[in-house]
Amino acid sequence: SDDGYRLWQRYELLKDPQKLQQYRQNISGVLIQGTSPTLTVTRQELDMALSGLLGQNVKNQSEITANALVLGTPENSPLIKSLNVTSKLAKLGTEGYLIETVAVKGQKATVIAANSDVGVLYGTFQFIKLLQTNQDITRLSISSTPKIHRRILNHWDNLNRTVERGYAGFSIWDWHKLPDYIDQRYIDYARANASIGINGTVLTNVNANALILTPAYLVKVKALADTFRPYGLKVYLTARFSAPVEIGGLKTADPLDEQVKAWWKNKADEIYTYVPDFGGFLVKANSEGQPGPQNYGRNHADGANMLADAVADKGGIVMWRAFVYDNKVPDDRAKQAFTEFKPLDGKFRKNVLVQVKNGPIDFQPREPFHPLFGAMPQTPLMMEFQITQEYLGQATNLVYQAPLYKETLDADTFVKGAGSTVAKVVDGSLHQYNLTGMAGVANIGNDRNWTGHLFGQANWYCFGRLAWDHTLTSEKIADEWLRMTFTNETAFLNPINKMMLQSRETLVNYMTPLGLHHIMGYDHHYGPGPWIKDKKRADWTSVYYHKASPEGIGFDRTATGSNALAQYAPGVQKLYGKAETCPEPFLLWFHHVKWDFKVKSGRTVWDEICHRYYSGAAMVGEMRKTWDATQSYVDAERFNHVKMLLLIQEKEARWWRDACVLYFQTFAQRPIPAGLEKPT
Ligand code: GCU
Repeated sequence: SDDGYRLWQRYELLKDPQKLQQYRQNISGVLIQGTSPTLTVTRQELDMALSGLLGQNVKNQSEITANALVLGTPENSPLIKSLNVTSKLAKLGTEGYLIETVAVKGQKATVIAANSDVGVLYGTFQFIKLLQTNQDITRLSISSTPKIHRRILNHWDNLNRTVERGYAGFSIWDWHKLPDYIDQRYIDYARANASIGINGTVLTNVNANALILTPAYLVKVKALADTFRPYGLKVYLTARFSAPVEIGGLKTADPLDEQVKAWWKNKADEIYTYVPDFGGFLVKANSEGQPGPQNYGRNHADGANMLADAVADKGGIVMWRAFVYDNKVPDDRAKQAFTEFKPLDGKFRKNVLVQVKNGPIDFQPREPFHPLFGAMPQTPLMMEFQITQEYLGQATNLVYQAPLYKETLDADTFVKGAGSTVAKVVDGSLHQYNLTGMAGVANIGNDRNWTGHLFGQANWYCFGRLAWDHTLTSEKIADEWLRMTFTNETAFLNPINKMMLQSRETLVNYMTPLGLHHIMGYDHHYGPGPWIKDKKRADWTSVYYHKASPEGIGFDRTATGSNALAQYAPGVQKLYGKAETCPEPFLLWFHHVKWDFKVKSGRTVWDEICHRYYSGAAMVGEMRKTWDATQSYVDAERFNHVKMLLLIQEKEARWWRDACVLYFQTFAQRPIPAGLEKPT
C-alpha cells in the first residue's frame, strides 16, 4: 500500500535511465570521516537514499577514489581540511553547507562540506534532493545558509494527545509509552524536519499544561530530545505562567516576586539536567483567558524577562507571543497587540523573541501583515504562521500555503522607506536583530500520512523551505515537493503545480473574498457562518467582522472607523487609505462600502462578491478535473485519497458560496447577477 507515510522521502528507484546512469557513475563510494551521532545518521540516510534511488548499495570507503562522495567538516575530516573550500566555508555560518565537484588527489569527487556536522546533514539532504528531482550532478557548485536562525514547529498538542486545531488524528507524542518506547515515527519526524532545515520543535500546546514541567514528564521530554538531537532538532516547551502556583505550591506567579523568580530559575536548571541543550520557552499569556503577568499588574516585558533570566545562562530563549486580545478592551481586536506591545519596544531581554502571527486577527485565508512588523526596531520579532488549516478548510481542503506565507513576507512595511519588507524585519536585516525566528503551527498528527490531507504535507514542506530561504518562489518549492512526492514527469508536474499555486486564491474566493474575514462557523471554524452573532464576546462573532447592513458591507479601519490603519507606516496608510484606490484583496478589511460601490472590474461590490463566490466554487471543480487527469501518474491509493477529498472540497465550496451569497443578499436586497444564478 502507498499511504503517504514516507512524505517527500520516498527513495524509490529512479525512472530516468540516463540520470540513473549518471548518478551511478558519479557516486562510486561514500567517504565520511568522523563518527558523531549526526554523521552516523547522515551515513544511514545516504545508505537508505542511495540504495533506494539508485537500486544498488554504494560502499563506504576510507580512501579517496574516483567519483567518491566526500562528506565532513574541516574539523573532523583531514581530507576536507586539505581541500580548497575553507574560505568559502567561512561565509556559511554554523548551519550552512556547500556541495562542490572538486579534484581530490587528482580524482574527481563530490564534496559536501560544512562547519558543523548538522550542516553536513543539511547538505546531504540537499544532495539527495538533487537525485530525487533529477538534477544534473556532474559539475556541482552549490552553497546555502539559512536566513533565519530559529526555524521551529509549534505543536498545539495536549498531554492527553488531543491536538488543538489538529485535523490529522491524535498527537504523535505517545506520552504513555515514553520514555522507554521510542516510536519509529519520532525518528522519521526528525528526518523529515532536518531534510527541510527545521531546527526546533515546541512539543506542547500554547494553551499550556504545567504538568509538562514536572519530572514525570521531563524524563519523557528528554527521551524525545535525545532522539531528535542527531538531526539538529532542539526541543522547546510551553510554559504555563501560573505553574509556580499550580505545581510549585507558591501563592503567586507575580513575575517580580523573588520566590517566583527563584522557582522558575530552579525549574529551568532542572530542565537542563534532563535536556542540556533545551531551547527555551514559548508563552501565551493574558490572551483568551490564559494566565499572565497582567494578572499581577505587570506587563508582557516583566513576564518575558523573568523567564528569559531563568534560561539565559544556559543559552535558552523565550518566545513570547503577541497574540493577545480581550473583549474587556472594547476596541477593534485587530489593534490590541500593537497597543500592548509597541510601548514595550526596547524593554525585553536580549534572549526574548516576540512571536507575532502573520496578520492582526487570526490566520485567516487572507490578512494584511501584522502592524507590529516594522514597529519594534529594538525587539526581535518572530513570525508565526499556521500550517494547520484552522480557517482554511482544515484537512479536507487542498490549499497550498506558500503563496500566503510569501504574500506576508513580501509585504512592504515602508518603515525605512519602500522595500522594507516583512521578510527583512523577520530575517533581522532591517533592524539588525541578533536573534531571528519563524514558527509554524504544525499540521501533524498520527494519521498514516501525517497531515490528514496528502497535500497538507506540502505546507509542512514549504514552511521549512521558506524559513530557510524566504526568497524561494512558491512555484519552485511546489516543484521540488511534487517531484519528490509523486513523479518527475512534466505532464504531471505542470498542471498540478499550477493547481497548487491557484489553490489559495481559489479558497479566498469561495470563503472570504475582497477582504472579508472571520465569517467561519462558530468556534470550530469549519464551514460558513457569516450569520453568527449574540455570542458572549463580540469579537467571536461574524457580524462584528463583516458589518453587513442594508446599506453596505465591510469593516471601516480608517480614521472614520477603528483607525487600525494608523498603526501602520504612512506608506501603508496611503496604499490602503481610500476605498477607491485600496487594493481589492483588502477592500472590505479596511473599508465599509455601499453595495453599489464600483470595483475595478466595473461591477458593484455586491455583484463582485457574487462573482468571486461563484468563480471560487467553480475553480474547485476545475481542480478536481485536473487531478482526475493525472491518474496514470499516481498510485491508486494516493490518487483516490486526493480525488475523494477534492469531491468533498467541491461540495464545501458550494456550501460556502450559497450560504454567504444568500446571507449577504438578505442585506443587499439585490439579485444574483445574471449568468450566475444557476448553481452548478
Ligand atoms: C486561535 C485558535 C485557538 C488558539 C489561538 C492561539 O484563536 O482558535 O485554538 O489557541 O488561536 O493562537 O493562541
